[in-house]
Amino acid sequence: MVKSTKCLLIFLSILFLVEIGRSSSITGASENGIKTAVFLSPMFELEPGSVVNRYYYDIDFPRGHIAVKSFDAEVVDEAGNSIPLYETYLHHWVVVNYYQNKGIKIPKYHSNVGFRKSDYIIKGNDGPCESELSQIFGLGSETRKTSTHVPDPYGIEFGNPAEIPNGYEEKWLLNVHAIDTRGAENMLGCAECRCDLYNVTVDEYGRNLDPNYIGGLRCCYDQTRCRLKEGFQSVKRSLFLKYTVKYVDWHCSIVPVRIYIFDVTDRWKKSDGINSTHICQVEYNVPAGVTGDGGINTKSVSIILPTGGNVVYGVAHQHTGGIGSTLYGEDGRVICSSLPMYGEGNEPGNEAGYIVGMSTCHPQPGSVTISDGETLTVVSNYSSGQGHTGVMGLFYILVADSDSSTKLNSSQHAPLGIHRKMLTANFIGVMVLLGVAVLAAVIGAHLRRNQRGHNYEPIMT
Ligand SMILES: *[C@@H]1O[C@H](CO)[C@@H](O)[C@H](O)[C@H]1NC(C)=O
Ligand SMILES: *[C@@H]1O[C@H](CO)[C@@H](O)[C@H](O)[C@H]1NC(C)=O
Ligand SMILES: *[C@@H]1O[C@H](CO)[C@@H](O)[C@H](O)[C@H]1NC(C)=O
Ligand SMILES: *[C@@H]1O[C@H](CO)[C@@H](O)[C@H](O)[C@H]1NC(C)=O
Repeated sequence: MVKSTKCLLIFLSILFLVEIGRSSSITGASENGIKTAVFLSPMFELEPGSVVNRYYYDIDFPRGHIAVKSFDAEVVDEAGNSIPLYETYLHHWVVVNYYQNKGIKIPKYHSNVGFRKSDYIIKGNDGPCESELSQIFGLGSETRKTSTHVPDPYGIEFGNPAEIPNGYEEKWLLNVHAIDTRGAENMLGCAECRCDLYNVTVDEYGRNLDPNYIGGLRCCYDQTRCRLKEGFQSVKRSLFLKYTVKYVDWHCSIVPVRIYIFDVTDRWKKSDGINSTHICQVEYNVPAGVTGDGGINTKSVSIILPTGGNVVYGVAHQHTGGIGSTLYGEDGRVICSSLPMYGEGNEPGNEAGYIVGMSTCHPQPGSVTISDGETLTVVSNYSSGQGHTGVMGLFYILVADSDSSTKLNSSQHAPLGIHRKMLTANFIGVMVLLGVAVLAAVIGAHLRRNQRGHNYEPIMT
């Protein structure tokens, strides 16, 4: 507490000086520290009908103690051209951070090799689907038009030396799953991993698939092939996932956030409460509509969030056919609604018929809160005019700890919110005054020291 107050004081003093210097906004000042790093994944090759589902260990990532402000990605070719979804369907990409034993040498690339428990510790997110969805970042076809921006004063913290276990270093794993649908007999069917189109009856480990499993991830694994139009031929291409990380060096004024990913297919035992084991299937099928459902397939799940706080960002992940997803609080209030944007043209980022973006929520800091132990409900809607296989219904939120002294409570957050804002304004006023006082003392001391010394020096050196 003492340390953070001191830090805040120094920070406010600097802000105060900046304010005097150019009377611009605080936002402008903090924008200046944002760094941008652009990387290419290892190369993967695709030809018509082929699939890659690769795991790249130890990918490039900004090092040091940082806070990530956004993570954007897209598929490009060797010349850097953006590749449209109807040529390379980006089923998903995910990025996971892990701690690697420093004594272990690991080849950079494996296909579907799991982690050996003693060599790695997966850091992952704070959500309930620990083994199935451990990513920090991850999207699919919607990646080009989905904002991943984490607003000020928040950031996703990495590389904190105090958190990295002794003898380990923090590293990053990238999983890319892409399907080349050039010349496909049924492009949507290939994108939805329909088993008949892949002529697959066993999974990637050679186990027989249940005949009722008609489509999904277990039919479009690495090196499978989707059926093409008779005689179609085209070139093999070298492709990359290009990813852009915006970040700032860690500073005590940044408020860290926790990441939660909820899955609408999550199954857990209510009787076991917050300690229940969660089984997240990740994907599900949408049967073609039955009369009376209004053409909408609705799937939902309720999940307990052990530790609440302020919601900073929210976004859903859906596949083609998705028409929106909402996260509700226990009292039925909307925490975030995220709607798909479908493309209407040909150019990358606007491909007709594909989900090219998901709308996001960036609530005013402190205006949307979740209580500790609150039960949340995820609702995922799909159009059932047409059947779909292997669709997803994920909800991703960033949550910051509420200040413990002014912790908001969902049943009364509106009046408390106003009260809190006033408190915050007064608090900042006091801190700025304190900052000025400290600054005056520092300058005074500096002047006195200089007077004692032999030369007169300018204050700013
Ligand atoms: C599908 O796979 C079977 C063996 O698993 C093979 O005999 C058959 O020729 C394949 N069909 C096509 C269209 O590739
Ligand atoms: C969950 O487990 C923790 C530690 O194992 C225990 O302290 C807590 O009481 C449990 N909570 C419930 C609701 O069972
Ligand atoms: C989902 O569909 C239900 C009706 O089935 C509707 O009440 C709800 O508003 C829909 N939500 C979204 C996010 O589309
Ligand atoms: C929220 O506030 C209400 C009314 O003041 C109170 O009864 C309830 O216990 C509080 N809940 C939590 C989780 O603090």
